[in-house]
Amino acid sequence: MRIDIITVEPDLIKSPFENSMMKRAIEKGLAEVHFHNLREYGIGNYRQVDDYQFGGGAGMVLMIKPISECIEKLLAERSYDEIIYMTPDAKTLNQATANTLSLKENILILTGHYKGVDQRVRDKYVTKEISIGDYVLTGGELAAAVLCDAVIRLIPGVLGDETSALTDSFQDNLLSPPVYTRPSEFDGMKVPEVLLSGNFPKIEEWRSEQAYKRTQEIRPDLLDDN
Ligand code: ADE
Repeated sequence: MRIDIITVEPDLIKSPFENSMMKRAIEKGLAEVHFHNLREYGIGNYRQVDDYQFGGGAGMVLMIKPISECIEKLLAERSYDEIIYMTPDAKTLNQATANTLSLKENILILTGHYKGVDQRVRDKYVTKEISIGDYVLTGGELAAAVLCDAVIRLIPGVLGDETSALTDSFQDNLLSPPVYTRPSEFDGMKVPEVLLSGNFPKIEEWRSEQAYKRTQEIRPDLLDDN
């Protein structure tokens, strides 16, 4: 998978890709990530990328011209399965979307800043808009890093244990059951007996019950979606 990210803050977004799982995925050649600094497409000596919004109001808007030049350059080199715009005014990212995107070959992600991008960018180029939650970040960079993490870890071969992504929370619209490791007793708190029993059908049954119970308590809305 190749991911291209357009941003005005390349240094802000790079570090998650230089550590942990995403770093390993890139080193293994399973994912390729390229950053494009929008400033390089800016207008005039000041490399201007934003301007006041028509109609008045606080906040700057990223202009269409620099973004269009950057996207057109990339489109001349390859086609993209999705051109994604990170914005709080969109549907919220969920596991189903991450699963779908993990099967794509080329993804282009545009991160907004200030008041966002000129609507014409969205109308002309963007095929999918994604929010990572109902709150406003300063820019789309951290949101893009979150999206990439959720997607890249699903690419086969990225995680050591092939099955572990399949048993994550949300893969079956349920939260994960509680997990424990050594010691089996700490400060009088004991690990549930069943987990030490070696009876794997019983352990599976217990985990399913716990996952369901936890979901019902914390996120009953997930059960409604089924
Ligand atoms: N940009 C600013 N806030 C955002 C959010 N919640 N999700 C995606 N992109 C954003």
